[in-house]
Amino acid sequence: MIELLKRKFCTIIKIPYQIINNFIIRPFISFRFDKTYNIDTRSSASINCDDKIALSHATYYQAVPIKYLEILFDLLQHDSPYTHFIDIGCGKGRACFYASQKYKQVTGIDFSKNLIANAQENLKSYSGTINGKIIFELRDASLYDLPNETSLIYLYNPFDEYVLRKFIKRNMGHFLNYKSRIAYINDVCHDFLIKCGFTREFKHNAERGISIYSLDKSRIY
Ligand SMILES: C[S@@+](CC[C@H](N)C(=O)[O-])C[C@H]1O[C@@H](n2cnc3c(N)ncnc32)[C@H](O)[C@@H]1O
Repeated sequence: MIELLKRKFCTIIKIPYQIINNFIIRPFISFRFDKTYNIDTRSSASINCDDKIALSHATYYQAVPIKYLEILFDLLQHDSPYTHFIDIGCGKGRACFYASQKYKQVTGIDFSKNLIANAQENLKSYSGTINGKIIFELRDASLYDLPNETSLIYLYNPFDEYVLRKFIKRNMGHFLNYKSRIAYINDVCHDFLIKCGFTREFKHNAERGISIYSLDKSRIY
């Protein structure tokens, strides 16, 4: 009986907390991040791309909540700053700016012309310190070759399995040769990665799930 009451109480408390968190706390923290670094990653924007097929498999632009980045970077605290951080579907670049506080080389790619233009404008106005280099490139993930170096591939649920399959297939040689990992927030294609031979090293049970994957070569035939 007490357990049941406790559970009911928690559910009643959880709903207003989520409303306050989603509509007040989270937007305020995002506002503060943008204000501190003199950038704009918050405002929504449509995707501008001529490739109708890629477009039909894409997620709309939504900047990652700062809280998720804090959780992820806590998980990555022992990762080398010389790992190349690559945001696949970077939008206006929020995760790249955040990552540049740790990583020396940061790349953001996106297939949307206006979003990459916004990211580049943000790079010009960015007032934070950049430890190394940040670049933003107009590229489609399914045609993108990862560089020949250990990288941290960051995904905030940018597209569905159709594009992820193309990306992984194209870059399987990279994953076999380098100790690159995939940091995946809202990992809706978890099963697909496991099928490809990846294993989940960490999972944080945030609202949307934050996971880190690496290729398990013993499962590749
Ligand atoms: C949910 S937003 C993520 C934004 C950013 N990564 C972040 O963490 O704030 C998804 C982004 O993926 C991009 N995208 C979707 N399909 C893509 C593709 N095939 N190639 C490159 N970018 C893509 C969209 O344009 C959009 O900006």
